[in-house]
Amino acid sequence: MKTSIIPFDTASIPTIIQLLESWDVVVLPTETIYWIFADWTNEEAVRKIFFAKERPADNPLILHVSDEKMIDQYAVVDNIVERTLIEKLMPWPFTLVLLKRDKVPDITTWSLDTVCVRIPDHHNLREVIHKIWIPLAWPSANRSGRPSPTTVAMVMNDMDDRVPLIADGWSTLYGIESTVARVVESTDPRYRYSIKILRPWFITKEDIEVVVWSEVNVYYDDITVNESPGTRYRHYSPAAPVQLRNPISDIILPASSQYIAFILTQETIDKYPFFLDQLNQSHKVVILLLWSRENLLSCAQRLYQLYAQCDELWVDAIIVESLPEYGVWYALMNRIRKSSTG
Ligand code: TXA
Ligand code: MG
Repeated sequence: MKTSIIPFDTASIPTIIQLLESWDVVVLPTETIYWIFADWTNEEAVRKIFFAKERPADNPLILHVSDEKMIDQYAVVDNIVERTLIEKLMPWPFTLVLLKRDKVPDITTWSLDTVCVRIPDHHNLREVIHKIWIPLAWPSANRSGRPSPTTVAMVMNDMDDRVPLIADGWSTLYGIESTVARVVESTDPRYRYSIKILRPWFITKEDIEVVVWSEVNVYYDDITVNESPGTRYRHYSPAAPVQLRNPISDIILPASSQYIAFILTQETIDKYPFFLDQLNQSHKVVILLLWSRENLLSCAQRLYQLYAQCDELWVDAIIVESLPEYGVWYALMNRIRKSSTG
């Protein structure tokens, strides 16, 4: 199959809709990352997503809808906390796990009785969904296990000849996938409900605490693998093994490693001249700048791009500097940990 690239603007919407209606898949940018999508209600179309991504069948897809009314059609909003999260945090890079209704096809949700829903924060995208009035299956446009793509070049690396169309032309502002959360009855007698954050990102624990009230307990739960099936797999990984280190000189290099990449922030780039000079005598070394710690969004946007660059350079090992682990930084560290081998 030949992959075409067209600009993503209002003129491209009819072509995109035509492909969807003929049960095909399309790649578009969102506010988070590039995604591959198909008509969610059509088994054959959804099968094409799993095939193109080489995605395990037990990793369910997110249902992308245009508005709250569409959520109610496909999922059960069971309590006031879930309703508040939908009203206050959508559209935004925020995804909620809800009980699914019968009309949600099993191929998209595996054997779960729940479904993930998200309203994307982009007018043109919501317009596409609203026009066809069907939800869209919407995973990242990478092959399973690889870093999520934030540029068309990254999509082409993984998806060339696997999808008919990529729409280009809108930057992925957040650079990392949406926050995924689930509301449950609390087992702690001090609270009525708990909100578990299964996949952290831009919407943090602190952001959620602001929109709910004090009887709701909000916490990160990104290690319970059964709760969010995707977290079971090694994720977001470039070809070379990633080591997360603080300080970066604290590394163990396998004997066969010759070409080492360091991913550092502006604040630490000049901190290790002696160590890097020494290493340079026995190895080839490349330093890649994540960005300044003062600009977290740029750091997030660049992480997967730097991983792609490491693939292009064919490095043997990638050392990433440890970053702070509070607020939004927590999510960036979550992604680096998941991509790392130790
Ligand atoms: O930002 C995003 O959310 C991007 C853009 C494209 O919208 N999408 C995305 O989709 O990251 P994907 O398929 O790469 O990740 C979906 C995550 C997986 O970890 C999956 O296991 C989890 O959501 N998930 C899906 N359905 C679930 C459910 N019913 N319960 C718990 N976790 C679920
Ligand atoms: Mg993904």
